[in-house]
Amino acid sequence: MRIYETANYEEMSRKAANILSAQVILKPDCVLGLATGSTPIGTYDQLVEWYEKGDVDFSEVKTVNLDEYKGLTRDNDQSYYYFMHKHLFDRVNIKLENTNVPDGTEPDAEKECDRYEKLIESMGGVDIQLLGLGHNGHIGFNEPDSSFAKTTHCVNLTESTIEANKRFFASADDVPRQAYTMGIGTIMKAKKILLVVNGEAKADIVAKAFFGPVTPEVPASILQLHNDVVVVADRAALSKVPRQA
Ligand code: GLP
Repeated sequence: MRIYETANYEEMSRKAANILSAQVILKPDCVLGLATGSTPIGTYDQLVEWYEKGDVDFSEVKTVNLDEYKGLTRDNDQSYYYFMHKHLFDRVNIKLENTNVPDGTEPDAEKECDRYEKLIESMGGVDIQLLGLGHNGHIGFNEPDSSFAKTTHCVNLTESTIEANKRFFASADDVPRQAYTMGIGTIMKAKKILLVVNGEAKADIVAKAFFGPVTPEVPASILQLHNDVVVVADRAALSKVPRQA
């Protein structure tokens, strides 16, 4: 695991965008695994800026998103489909038929999760998976659990996640209680992983996830076992990691 420390959020975003654009330049028809949440917004803004300058071309890129709230329609401004269009897809030359987000409107969880998992396989797997980090160590929507979920599945969101995400909704009652998410096994199959994290509020979980024991109670800790992970974190997020004397 390689950890890059940056001075602040802007530098974190630029570094992550550099890594993603390098991937696109090296393999123009690559499969990007994408993430939502507030952390990667700056990364997407930076990619859009470089696209506008003519430095990155998304015309052959394919994407698969990590997760989606169950029950939200695509035009709901809190759906991850809406988020991706707003922050990236509608701003670059990606072909919309090459973008994929789990379908939150499919009520049959097994059917949708099975379709999504097979879709990722049929695309040849993910070349680089972008991840954020939840306050409880979740990645995608893989919440702390007694075992690691292997494939795309339907999860019941924990109270702490509902609490953390309620700021985007009118009230906590409006936050969906379930989501479809790639499993830990799906994420671990990505050839490369790029995790972005910033801010002091994530310092405890960063120390636990990347310097503590590997446990399903801290889902992101499994990334310690992947052989190609880059964490790009600002100084505040790294402020509680054990330092060597
Ligand atoms: C959500 C998403 C995750 C994201 C996490 C952290 O629950 N499902 O993919 O990493 O929240 O969000 P933020 O970046 O806003 O802290």
